[in-house]
Amino acid sequence: MVHFKDPFEKMEKEDESRRNLRKPLIAGNWKMNKVLTETIEYALDFKKRVSEVPDVEILICAPFPFLSPLVKTLEDSPIKVGAQDMYWEPHGAFTGAVSAQMLESVGCSHVIIGHSERRHKFGESSEDVNKKTRSALGAYLTPIVCVGETLEERESMRTEEVLREQVTMSLGGQTGEEMLKCVVAYEPVWAIGTGRTATPHQANETQLYVRSLLKEMFGEDVANRTRILYGGSVKPDNVVDLMAEPSIDGVLVGGASLNVESFEKLVKYREITAEEPGDVRDG
Ligand code: PGA
Repeated sequence: MVHFKDPFEKMEKEDESRRNLRKPLIAGNWKMNKVLTETIEYALDFKKRVSEVPDVEILICAPFPFLSPLVKTLEDSPIKVGAQDMYWEPHGAFTGAVSAQMLESVGCSHVIIGHSERRHKFGESSEDVNKKTRSALGAYLTPIVCVGETLEERESMRTEEVLREQVTMSLGGQTGEEMLKCVVAYEPVWAIGTGRTATPHQANETQLYVRSLLKEMFGEDVANRTRILYGGSVKPDNVVDLMAEPSIDGVLVGGASLNVESFEKLVKYREITAEEPGDVRDG
């Protein structure tokens, strides 16, 4: 494993096409955490820490009640705000649901769709994910469409089959132009919130497979220009090696985005060097 000492050396080694075509996206997924006062306190502190970081897109995906206040607090910063889910209908008698149009109207730019917790705890299917993705695009939101296998599926050598089903069903039926407005997140279910990260090599290999599926569906140009994030126990300790992999275009971070210092480190991943104390990169 190569450990870069100099951030510029590291940047040079980054995959050429990624630097040219796929700006890294560092996205936090707060899940069901924080209350309003903590949200505002975090946002005021975070924007001071990261607003000047170049060549990276920064996003916080927060619970619905905090979206509007978060957008207001961050309006003078480059940090974007997204939601963690939405319903595909634009309005109507759908108690408890929130539409893409509502999210757009409060200033959201992104929405996570088909996160494994939605798929597994709320029974969302890839057909639902497809409808939500199309609805998000219709409201000018960037959908971050999540896919990933369970431990049982990986151990029974079904990772490719599961990903093929999820990618083709979740993203099928749209044009290449629409696909270019989406982001894909590969999140192995066994690595989410478990402290067990896919090794950078495992993640890259699987993401190359996801990119090959996009190539089959939308052609090479679209596949090369689509950002694929990795998610699952990403931390300051492992982000450098993950981001050094050519097919990883950013990270979707749960636990480590809740703390302002650790999320700042992830956004500034290019500044992390091999000398940093307690730096354990792999595993
Ligand atoms: P984690 O969550 O970083 O806490 O593993 C990632 C996610 O679920 O998006």
